[in-house]
Amino acid sequence: MFSLPALFNHLDAMQWRYATKSYDTTKKIDKEILYALLEILRLTPTTMGLQLWRFVVVTDPELRKQLVTHCSRLHVGHKEHHIESASHLLVFCRPSKFEPALIDQHIEHVAYVRNQSISDLHAYSQNLHHWAETFTDSLETWMDNQTFIALGSFIAACAAARIDSCPIENFSKAGFDEVLNLGEKHLHSVAACSLGVRSPLDKYANEKKVRYPVDDLVIYK
Ligand SMILES: Cc1cc2nc3c(=O)[nH]c(=O)nc-3n(C[C@H](O)[C@H](O)[C@H](O)COP(=O)(O)O)c2cc1C
Repeated sequence: MFSLPALFNHLDAMQWRYATKSYDTTKKIDKEILYALLEILRLTPTTMGLQLWRFVVVTDPELRKQLVTHCSRLHVGHKEHHIESASHLLVFCRPSKFEPALIDQHIEHVAYVRNQSISDLHAYSQNLHHWAETFTDSLETWMDNQTFIALGSFIAACAAARIDSCPIENFSKAGFDEVLNLGEKHLHSVAACSLGVRSPLDKYANEKKVRYPVDDLVIYK
């Protein structure tokens, strides 16, 4: 049945985590750990299962230096941006433009994974195309929002493994796209996340968490 201890472990992890602004550059995340995190990322749910995202793992120090020039100011007291001191940087991307072909690609993938024929999935495919054609807001904004779900899932997974991280949204998307040559793959950056082991000098680690009480946030009806 339900596991309260698992929930309390997760609660501890969420209290332990904070948006890390400086990492210990001598400590790196192992390949196995990174692989497990990427597996969790891939299992994040998406609207209608479309998975319109890609994740770029940036380890190259030179690239990271260039990315920093497209970020907002350095955090007080740190001579190095956390993008540089982190063990890894993940950049969360989505297709630069929504195309109906992305739905067809998904249908082909479903057919392959579930050993079905494309014709079995005709009604499902039509529903998806109809949904996209009648979508009233920007499908690009919708794809951005999907990517943020992955970011949330990633931050929580890092915390569960006591890996430090910092979500990043304040950067020039065009700048990141250019440095990472994302246009070549018809991708656009949305958010990023640095990860590693916190530096003992990161003063942000000891700051009290600022959150509203549950009673102020939740409305029961
Ligand atoms: C979607 C998202 C984007 C963020 N973007 C940035 C950012 O660009 N730069 C930064 O220093 N912190 C960024 N943060 C970190 C927040 O400022 C931080 O999570 C918040 O102040 C709460 O602090 P805590 O995470 O340490 O509890 C971002 C957080 C989220 C969830």
